[in-house]
Amino acid sequence: MNMRDSEIILGLMQQHGYKQTKRLEEADIVLFNTCSVRRHAEERVWSQLGILKKKPIRTTKIIGILGCMAQNYQDGIFRRLPHVDLVCGPSNIYDIPQAIEKVFQENTRVLAVNRKSRPLISDCGFRINRLKAFVSIMYGCNNFCSYCIVPYVRGREVSRPLKHILDEVKDLAGRGCKEVTLLGQNVNSYGKDLRTKVNFVKLLEALDKIKGIARIRFVTSHPKDATKKMFGAMRDLPKVCEHLHLPLQAGSDKILRAMKRGYILKDYLKLIEYFRRIVPNGSLTTDIIAGFPGEAQTDFRKTYQAMQEIQFDEAFIFKYSPRPKTKAARLDDNVATEEKQDRNQSLLKLQEEISLRKNRKLLRRSLEVMAEERSDCFARGLRKNMFKGRTRTNKITLFSGTSDLVSKIVNVRINQATTHSLIGESDGKKN
Ligand code: 5AD
Ligand code: SF4
Repeated sequence: MNMRDSEIILGLMQQHGYKQTKRLEEADIVLFNTCSVRRHAEERVWSQLGILKKKPIRTTKIIGILGCMAQNYQDGIFRRLPHVDLVCGPSNIYDIPQAIEKVFQENTRVLAVNRKSRPLISDCGFRINRLKAFVSIMYGCNNFCSYCIVPYVRGREVSRPLKHILDEVKDLAGRGCKEVTLLGQNVNSYGKDLRTKVNFVKLLEALDKIKGIARIRFVTSHPKDATKKMFGAMRDLPKVCEHLHLPLQAGSDKILRAMKRGYILKDYLKLIEYFRRIVPNGSLTTDIIAGFPGEAQTDFRKTYQAMQEIQFDEAFIFKYSPRPKTKAARLDDNVATEEKQDRNQSLLKLQEEISLRKNRKLLRRSLEVMAEERSDCFARGLRKNMFKGRTRTNKITLFSGTSDLVSKIVNVRINQATTHSLIGESDGKKN
């Protein structure tokens, strides 16, 4: 979501006559689009801002903090870092060019964090990648999981009108885009806030009909709202890819309750049983938090065992970090840092074994891959004409083939598997 926001910001700036530079020394304006979901992400921004203050590029005319940290700390950022000129939250994204003008013209600081939710104007059409695009279908979140800052910084759920989304995807298809990834904190509740009778499955059905688009992906689904109907759409709609990202977060019911996730492990297991029955070759990935307040060894074991039982294709595993304003921040963060680290490591190790085993099962299989770009992994002359892409199940695949493959969808026979990628050869046929 932040990547898409950065792209929108870049597009808006270009529309207003600014040009991007990759060299900090050249920049008149330095904008940080920030994330607040874990403390570590914020710490990196604070430290970069500190460095910026000391460097000669204080000749830089404007430094702006955008995104979730802006919303989280608001004018506290000016107090902590007086050299920042602009603080602009995620719902004020379209105000950025005007805010920058104001800083320039009035030589004043600008704080733009007043909007509670994102205005529903069409997203800027600017794209960095011609072939693949992120498309936001909704903003914000209503779930208030007890550890999560998102509802506080990105506001309540607002679905974009169906027509805006369809127009955007048709426009993308017209410009050569083949794959769209639909974005929302909880895509399964798409449309619930709209007056028209649309829902996520109806959106998928409408998108599936758009000529030129070959693949449709989506993140993120919430277990309490994911439905068999959605799995049915994944099976029946040819363009909708067979990959489900379904954050489990924890395997202990006590912790799930404390996280306010709205399901217990049994519900989750039932759900993925349906998913695997309805979409037999689908892949399943997840998010896990290690060391939530009150997570005893026995609770941690339950997460470990759940991961052993479920056998995810990939898992993003995070150490719990208390976030301001959230309910969990009031709880005693009582799992020691070292213990969190150990639990995190042990889940990572387990998942690596599982991912490798799952990828090895794909050896000798022929899988559909979109050749996204030439691969630089083999750039040093080891192998020529290697391409990089993803399977429908979202597995990164490196493969050899002839030089005209980029942007084509090809069948790749897998002959090597690593933890996070597949390696193979294309059969030369493409569409
Ligand atoms: N601490 C650690 N991980 C978190 N996540 C969200 N909030 C926190 C937090 N306070 C993780 C969740 C979520 C993912 C995007 O980030 O696993 O699914
Ligand atoms: Fe955060 Fe929960 Fe909303 Fe995901 S569903 S963004 S974890 S509050």
